Amino acid sequence: MIIGVDYYPEHWDREMWQADVELMAETGVKVVRLAEFAWCRLEPSDGEFDFSWLDEAIGMFADNGIDVVIGTPTNCPPRWLCAKHPEILPAGDSGKTNPIGIRGHRCLNSPVFREYAGRIVGRLAEHYKDNKSVIAWQIDNELEANICYCDTCNKKHREWLKNRYGSLGALNRAYGNVVWSGEYSSWDQIDPPYGGYNQAWLNPAYMHDFQRRAAEDVTEFARFQADIIRSRIAGAKITTNTWFCTNLPDFYELFDELDFVSYDNYPTTNIPYDSEDIFTHAVHLDLMRGIKRKNFWIMEQLSGGMGCWMPMQKTTRPGMIKGYALQAFAHGADTVVHFRWRTANIGAEMHWHGLIDHSNVPGRRFSEFAELCKDAESLADLRGTQLRSDIAVMFSVGSEAAFRLQPQTDGYNYMEQIKLMHQAFARYGVNVDIIDEHADISGYKAVCAPALYITDRAVADSLYGFAENGGTVILTARCGVKDEHNNCIMSELPTVYRELTGCHVSEYDPIGWGKGSIKFNDGESFMCKQWCDVIETDTAEVIARYDSDFYAGKPAVTVNSFGRGTAYYIGTVGERRMYEKLAGKILKEAGVPHIDGLPENVEITTRTGNGITARFVFNNSGEKKEFLLDGTDICLAPFEMTVIRS
Ligand code: GAL
Ligand code: ZN
Repeated sequence: MIIGVDYYPEHWDREMWQADVELMAETGVKVVRLAEFAWCRLEPSDGEFDFSWLDEAIGMFADNGIDVVIGTPTNCPPRWLCAKHPEILPAGDSGKTNPIGIRGHRCLNSPVFREYAGRIVGRLAEHYKDNKSVIAWQIDNELEANICYCDTCNKKHREWLKNRYGSLGALNRAYGNVVWSGEYSSWDQIDPPYGGYNQAWLNPAYMHDFQRRAAEDVTEFARFQADIIRSRIAGAKITTNTWFCTNLPDFYELFDELDFVSYDNYPTTNIPYDSEDIFTHAVHLDLMRGIKRKNFWIMEQLSGGMGCWMPMQKTTRPGMIKGYALQAFAHGADTVVHFRWRTANIGAEMHWHGLIDHSNVPGRRFSEFAELCKDAESLADLRGTQLRSDIAVMFSVGSEAAFRLQPQTDGYNYMEQIKLMHQAFARYGVNVDIIDEHADISGYKAVCAPALYITDRAVADSLYGFAENGGTVILTARCGVKDEHNNCIMSELPTVYRELTGCHVSEYDPIGWGKGSIKFNDGESFMCKQWCDVIETDTAEVIARYDSDFYAGKPAVTVNSFGRGTAYYIGTVGERRMYEKLAGKILKEAGVPHIDGLPENVEITTRTGNGITARFVFNNSGEKKEFLLDGTDICLAPFEMTVIRS
């Protein structure tokens, strides 16, 4: 396992570099990411390149046995470029060019920007192609879907629609443009959503395509850069650092273009008091591993209190720096790079804390980081071991976007539905994969498909086939609602999943912040919230009924036999304990080895390979945990991880 740091040589006096690099080497840092925002220093004026400072820094790292990842600097075009070619700047939702305020001030589609971006990326790749210290490349920084209202993007969008629909008639039909007299009679009437992207009044079908194209832009932009690097460096290892931003790219398409996934991992430092708040963060790590179903990197890892554009948050509690990095290993990261070596004394991010404080005096957090480096060395034999899972949760890129465009009811959130499923199974110490809805699921025992809102025939077929062959499927309310255009399907819910679930929805009640209750056949009751499907069974059996409101007594949770398998349908959003109850039942029925009775916030995952089975046992809480695991006493301090090999 490898530990690294993010370092910005251009932020510090040249005289500090040597001491920094030596302290890194002495502490056990093995890799450094750099240069991802340094365009103005790499190309101080048009066509005049200066890589000498970067050569020098990389040389120092090499002399100290530290590898580097170069970030391409395309997130921040330099001022001279913006002044010379203002057309590279993105436009906001008024159609006016955004001023150069912060960073990310470039339209990914601008041909002029592409020319300059391509040139600097090509120069960097050419310059470092034989440098053995450069082990990987990061494209840009935290790429988000390209929501831009400039002329270039508008034209591109119209072309994209022409390709997709062929004729205006087909497009008008697909969008239902007859509503509110929205029919287009010429392609150039198609505008972007001026006035705001997330306006609830906009046509959902039109918005869905706008989002889809904006996400495709990112994939294409990553491919553009990756091709340039690969044309200079055969076998270059290329990634981009991704995260859960508002306008998500399509993780699956994006990383199809790249060699490995890397993630910016900032778990919260605030421990919640509400037991309904899922305090694990593991869901994000499992989603990242699930993108390529391979081990991944953390490119930025929490190192101290976060702040700057928001009020500062609590500092990392003792144990968190070590614990959260090891938690990432436990979920399939092989390299964890901490953001950042030292807190910036300058610039907008001076209150986003690194490992060392403004004073440059290494303190408590740094000592903990040094311990982490030693621990990581002791886990070296686990490199390349992997997590294998019997349980998967499907993530639907299309549904995620559609829910964002059209919120369902107060409090309802798609990612929360994923978390509830993930957490329910993870509670039993089993590995859980979060995977693309289009992934091959034949190797799993149970697949959760919460809120598959946008319907894709191929996904439905895959779930039917899976159940047919003996798998267990868990579907929920808001499955099968929309067609591929984000229009409602005219059929009783869950529409295409009706046969699989053996039930249908006669009516639904979006109760939002209201509360209801359900009662299982065994008498156990749970609170329910946000959404209530009133279910009628066709062939399914009822396992829980509503205990509140005018539909009291009606089915709320059902199970159906289908082929050699089983399909559950959960018609409401319950308390966490309700999902845990169901997960326990499913694990037992599906014969998946699991652990009953783990204390709350103890997380266990297993990595196997190299003839080793390693169990990672993590106390993700601020309290000491003591419990028995396979007859052995385990005692873990707050955020402590222990690794048990067999
Ligand atoms: C990340 C970003 C970094 C830095 C960090 C802390 O999202 O990639 O460049 O901004 O957050 O704010
Ligand atoms: Zn644009």
